[in-house]
Amino acid sequence: MRLYSCWLTQRRTGASKMNWFVAAFAVCALVPGVHCASDSVAWCYDQASCNDAQWPVIAAEFCNGTRQSPINIVSASAKGDSNLVEFTFRNFSSTSALKKIKNTGKTVKVTLASHVGISGGGLSESYDSLQFHLHWGNGSSVPGSEHTVNGKRYPMELHIVNSKSSLNGNTTLAVADSTGLAALGFFIEEMSGNATGQPESWKNLTSYLTSITEKDQSATIAAGFSLDDLLVGVDRSKYYRYLGSLTTPNCNEAVVWTVFKDTIKVSKDLIDLFSTTVRISNSTSHLMTNVYRNVQAAQSVTTQAKSSVSSTCYSLGLMTLSIALGLRT
Ligand SMILES: *[C@@H]1O[C@H](CO)[C@@H](O)[C@H](O)[C@H]1NC(C)=O
Ligand SMILES: *[C@@H]1O[C@H](CO)[C@@H](O)[C@H](O)[C@H]1NC(C)=O
Ligand SMILES: *[C@@H]1O[C@H](CO)[C@@H](O)[C@H](O)[C@H]1NC(C)=O
Ligand SMILES: *[C@@H]1O[C@H](CO)[C@@H](O)[C@H](O)[C@H]1NC(C)=O
Ligand SMILES: *[C@@H]1O[C@H](CO)[C@@H](O)[C@H](O)[C@H]1NC(C)=O
Ligand SMILES: *[C@@H]1O[C@H](CO)[C@@H](O)[C@H](O)[C@H]1NC(C)=O
Ligand SMILES: *[C@@H]1O[C@H](CO)[C@@H](O)[C@H](O)[C@H]1NC(C)=O
Ligand SMILES: [Zn+2]
Repeated sequence: MRLYSCWLTQRRTGASKMNWFVAAFAVCALVPGVHCASDSVAWCYDQASCNDAQWPVIAAEFCNGTRQSPINIVSASAKGDSNLVEFTFRNFSSTSALKKIKNTGKTVKVTLASHVGISGGGLSESYDSLQFHLHWGNGSSVPGSEHTVNGKRYPMELHIVNSKSSLNGNTTLAVADSTGLAALGFFIEEMSGNATGQPESWKNLTSYLTSITEKDQSATIAAGFSLDDLLVGVDRSKYYRYLGSLTTPNCNEAVVWTVFKDTIKVSKDLIDLFSTTVRISNSTSHLMTNVYRNVQAAQSVTTQAKSSVSSTCYSLGLMTLSIALGLRT
């Protein structure tokens, strides 16, 4: 997941490394209002000099931490937690909640209206939904989700980024709070069969990609589809929970992660549009592919508590009673 949309784009080579650091520091010192503490590092996905293997070096403050995301989730190791109740989704059904779609050079990001949010789900308080963005590989056949489950990587992953409502959208405070942000992760999988242009909400969303092929281009999203429409087919009461970080520099360890078990099914043609339409910079630059961080050290993961022993005994008891009484149920 990424939170910030501003960073320096200069390519770093071994020879210019030190000069670059000086330049970054100067920009941060001279441009007030820029999120410099979080954006002062020129990171990338596609070059050995600045890809995720280098983040612990070029953004060492947090990317080298001990609760980093994403992780591989081992389903058999997830412990039951009865606090992981259902979420309440505020205005996820609103067809006017999706405001703007932007090519940031690292992802495609959609900003959300101010009245969208979440609560429940074992979170300590209400959170406001700020934006969602996506991670992908290279078409549906080269998967690019960030989290993996039992070693399986999915074609894409959608992240909805939420900030503690009590922090009033102050992201500086949010990234300094160990639970300042709540991220919702949804896996996207190829729809079975030969469907094209499905679901319609994803056809609507991806129709904007041709308007944002270059970095920093954005488009206004017309009303007509909601977050609920995009999250079609996911039982949002079943999820994994762990404490982790932003998955892009500066990798702040401020994120309560929720990764849903069910996947969103999207037709292959629409998945393929991400890696064939948007570019990392101008029209001569590379297509945006493999925009995900590799998995980090394992964390303790929880999930919904399995049916308890007492309720199993109760069911067995009822069954025995039914048989004893000759009942058919
Ligand atoms: C990251 O931290 C570990 C210990 O905390 C240290 O051994 C390692 O050298 C650090 N790596 C980098 C790239 O700074
Ligand atoms: C949903 O958004 C509308 C404005 O579009 C607002 O009036 C309403 O209060 C919001 N609902 C909730 C539950 O926040
Ligand atoms: C992505 O896939 C296309 C088509 O298969 C291929 O031409 C291209 O080289 C791939 N890009 C990367 C970065 O692997
Ligand atoms: C965020 O909160 C900090 C600490 O209270 C404050 O210094 C800063 O000005 C706030 N930022 C914004 C954008 O309000
Ligand atoms: C998908 O298309 C292929 C080739 O056109 C065909 O062989 C196959 O039966 C189709 N599958 C389904 C589920 O429609
Ligand atoms: C797709 O967009 C159209 C036009 O904005 C809208 O009428 C329709 O309801 C949308 N459908 C879905 C499922 O998002
Ligand atoms: C496009 O970006 C590259 C660097 O990514 C730069 O060298 C080139 O001059 C740019 N071309 C145009 C037309 O802006
Ligand atoms: Zn993300």
